[in-house]
Amino acid sequence: MYHKPMTDITKVRDLIRNSKHTVVLTGAGISAESGVPTFRGTDGLWRKYRPEELATPEAFHRDPLTVWEWYQWRRGLIAECHPNAAHQLVVSWEKNLPHVSVVTQNVDGLHRLAGSTDVMELHGNIWEVRCTREGTVKEDRTHPFSSLPPLCSCGAMLRPNVVWFGESLPSAVLERAFEEVQTADLCIVIGTSSMVQPAASLPYHGLSSGARVIEVNPQHTPLTGHATVSLPMTAVQFAEALGIHEG
Ligand code: OAD
Repeated sequence: MYHKPMTDITKVRDLIRNSKHTVVLTGAGISAESGVPTFRGTDGLWRKYRPEELATPEAFHRDPLTVWEWYQWRRGLIAECHPNAAHQLVVSWEKNLPHVSVVTQNVDGLHRLAGSTDVMELHGNIWEVRCTREGTVKEDRTHPFSSLPPLCSCGAMLRPNVVWFGESLPSAVLERAFEEVQTADLCIVIGTSSMVQPAASLPYHGLSSGARVIEVNPQHTPLTGHATVSLPMTAVQFAEALGIHEG
C-alpha cells in the first residue's frame, strides 16, 4: 500500500505545530478554488491575454481605457469570490501559533477578507486606486465605475494600485517580507508557480537561514526539489487534510 502522502501530512502537521515563527507565502493557486483565475495554468489569464498590453505602465500610458476595462472585469469577477478553506486555514494558524505572517502575490484581498491581519501584499491590491498625479492611494470598491478611466478628485486619472511588469515592488513591504523569511523557522508556500521574482526567491532566503519549507501545489515547480516537504495537492485539499472544511 502507498502511504507517502499521509506520512508527509503527519510531518507537515508536526512542523506547523512546533513552529515559533511561520511565514505563509501565497500565489494565485490559493484563490483558484474560490474562482479567481490563475495566471499560468491551462485556463490562466496569461494564456488568453498579453501582459504587455494590459499589465505594464507603457500599456496604461498608451491605452488606459483598455487596461481599465480589463481591471474592471477582474474586479467584477473577484467581487463574486469568497475566501476558501485554505484562506481560513491560514487565519487559524494566526490564531493558534506564536507568530504568523502572510506574504502574498495576490491582489484579490481574500486573505484579509478571511480574517488574516498581518498580510504583506507584494503586488498591491485590486481594490485600491492610485492617483497618477499625486500618488495618493485609497481603497475604492466601486463596481462598476460609472465611467472609465476613473478620475481622482484632482482631475487626474486613477490607476489600479497593483504592480505591473517593469515596476518595482513596494519597498517597505518587500523589505519586511525578506526580514520575515530570514527570521522564520517555517515557510509554507501555497499555490505559486515560483516563477516571478523577487517573490520566488523568498523561500530560498528562508532555507538558507535555516527555515523548513513546505510547498503545497498540485504541479511541480522550480521550488519542489528544494522544499523540505512538497505536497502535490490543491490548497483546499491541504486545508481539509489538516481538518479545515469549507463552509
Ligand atoms: P501562477 O498562475 O503563475 O501560478 C499558480 C500556481 O498555482 C501554479 O503553480 C499552479 O500549479 C498552482 N495551483 C493551481 N490551482 C491550485 C490550487 N487549487 N491549489 C494550489 N495550487 C494551485 O500564479 P503566481 O505564482 O501567483 O503578478 O504568479 C505570480 C505573479 O505572476 C502574479 O502575482 C502576477 C503574475 O504575473 C503580477 O501581476 C505582478
